[in-house]
Amino acid sequence: MQKRIGACRAHTNIALIKYWGKRDQTLFLPTSSSLSLTLNAFYTDTRVQWLDNLSNDLFYLNGEKQSKEETNKISRFLDLFRDELGINGYAKVESYNHVPTAAGLASSASAFAALAGACRESLHLDWSNEKLSTFARRGSGSATRSVYGGFVEWNKGTSSVDSKAIAIDDANWDVGMVIIAINKAKKKVSSREGMQLTVATSPFYSQWVEQSEQDLIAIKEAIANQDIQRVGEIAETNAMRMHATTLAANPPFTYFEPETLQAIASVQALREKGFTAYYTIDAGPNVKVLCKASEMSQIKQHLSETFTNDQLITTTPGDALTRLDHWEYED
Ligand code: DP6
Repeated sequence: MQKRIGACRAHTNIALIKYWGKRDQTLFLPTSSSLSLTLNAFYTDTRVQWLDNLSNDLFYLNGEKQSKEETNKISRFLDLFRDELGINGYAKVESYNHVPTAAGLASSASAFAALAGACRESLHLDWSNEKLSTFARRGSGSATRSVYGGFVEWNKGTSSVDSKAIAIDDANWDVGMVIIAINKAKKKVSSREGMQLTVATSPFYSQWVEQSEQDLIAIKEAIANQDIQRVGEIAETNAMRMHATTLAANPPFTYFEPETLQAIASVQALREKGFTAYYTIDAGPNVKVLCKASEMSQIKQHLSETFTNDQLITTTPGDALTRLDHWEYED
């Protein structure tokens, strides 16, 4: 029998058109389609081994054995593969996160994409990335998009089999991002809870969905034209409109912190200086600045007048899911 072991690397992604709300909580079907940029600087490596002598799944993160609660999340995900393939047995899952966890840098995106990829490798499945993305989606919505590199759309689809990622553009042109890490602590309202509360209570929500559909069409055209300024303008307004829905939720909430507003002002000041720089913000206080890769280091230098070097991380676009033939971590 072939050895049932396999490993994969997946990069995080930052949404430029946000995913913010589910129409089906169990299947992770979104209310609207979204679009992201995969990032080179942040990734997760995951190895899956199906072992005969196990009586339950095991999960190690950054070399540390995880609690029952955390392991259960992984088991539920492995169940998707067990159910689909009609197999039994348990796996040892090892993950190394090169992402500040829960800092709003979407570690769950790279985590579940890498886990889905490692499942495909370990079970020798001949599945396309599109199909795999429908499995990654069931771990965390944003993970759908992390199976591809560059600009990626998550088409909301009509059912669980076609709510999937589509590669839009490899972003192999003048595209970069500077991350302003405001707060690396775990966020108070998770994206899952935050979007659910917003869908249920925010009167702005239906407007948000309608506008997002328009934004998606416009941003795809701007990407096709390699017009980073237009891409940035659309992404910035899309993000602010998403955050506006949370302010109108009941009870109202926001992911912004004082430094978030300071970062927004810094990006506006960069534009006044003539740089192409636009911000986007996820379910956390951090600010991500979309810019030209060729201007990235100058932008970082300007931002370092307000933020420390530790807070500023530059990155170029990242690649699709890759199989790891060599596991660089200790056994
Ligand atoms: C604001 O993918 O973390 O980052 O599907 O419940 O796991 P779940 O949510 P998650 O939500 C991400 C929300 C966002 C926008 C985005 O990435 O599109």
